[in-house]
Amino acid sequence: MTGALDVDALVDEARGAIEAADSTEEIRHVAATVSGKKSALAEASRALGSMDPEARKELGRELHEARTTVEELLESRRSEIRFAELSAEMAASRLDLTEYVPGTVAGPGSRGHLHLVSQTRDALEDVFVGMGFDVAEGPEIETDWYNFGALNIPPAHPARGMWDTFYLHLGEPESTLLRTHTSPVQIHLMEQAVLDGTLPIHSVMPGRCYRRDTPDARHLAVFHQIEGLVVDRGITFADLAGTIETFTTAYFGPDIHSRLRPAYFPFTEPSAEFEVTCAICHGGGCRTCSQTGWIELGGCGMVDPAVFASVGIDADDWTGFAFGFGIDRCAQMRHQIADMRALIENDIRFLRQF
Ligand code: DAH
Repeated sequence: MTGALDVDALVDEARGAIEAADSTEEIRHVAATVSGKKSALAEASRALGSMDPEARKELGRELHEARTTVEELLESRRSEIRFAELSAEMAASRLDLTEYVPGTVAGPGSRGHLHLVSQTRDALEDVFVGMGFDVAEGPEIETDWYNFGALNIPPAHPARGMWDTFYLHLGEPESTLLRTHTSPVQIHLMEQAVLDGTLPIHSVMPGRCYRRDTPDARHLAVFHQIEGLVVDRGITFADLAGTIETFTTAYFGPDIHSRLRPAYFPFTEPSAEFEVTCAICHGGGCRTCSQTGWIELGGCGMVDPAVFASVGIDADDWTGFAFGFGIDRCAQMRHQIADMRALIENDIRFLRQF
């Protein structure tokens, strides 16, 4: 305390007023009163000029401390008020997601569920994880090199016609595109394993793919695949065939089997298409399987040495197999969905069945 001015009392008075303020409006008003130009503190500061130097020094310091304290009190009350007002506003505009409106599709307790394609991807992952695979992912936007070049599909190769591509950028230094299959993830995995020295690889890679297809009963322009890759020492075609058969019975059940038929893919040699017993007629022959009793699910083969060369893996030391098939196609077969377009129409009556 200095002279007639009780600085502590001024601070206490300000504290009382600040604590009593209850809204943004009130705190603004209080701030003007306790620290504005016309406040007692401001007036006391102005009066310093006419004081003798000793007293001025002492009172100046006290006033400075007092102002700092008052500013701090104001700021902390302001943020309390802001928080309280925001909470009140949020509580007032809160959506009650559990509210049941009679006559709507969602009944009491219904919070929706995973889409059939997501459920299928999860189930496929579970089967492969149970067989000792790990799960990896890669980007949906790829360069020409990852989607084609590194997979032994050079620019002029006729096999590029197999993948009608959505290009994002054409040309120099390299085209970018929406991946047309999950096979480029193989390249990313092998490159990483070479860099980190973590070969062998036993991975599956699920993900979304894009092709310029006109959607029909068995094709979508945006669809999903799951890729598999094993790179290890001494891997043979028998390992591939055994893996496909184990997967088929684990996923579709004990009466569904697999078979491999010679085929061509640039990134595998030899290559095969794999087919599974038609789940609709159980192999007896029906319209869905064109009376053959088999349905084609995907492609597979032994990793081509040219692919190993593009990622720097020594094909004399390592061998491997790869496979890839449609997740949407699996869902279609397992649930006997006549038209795949039902998966993307978002008709809740359809989706609720799964
Ligand atoms: N990427 C191929 C496609 O989309 C499918 C495929 C075939 C994947 C053979 C493979 C494979 O890994 O070995 O048509």
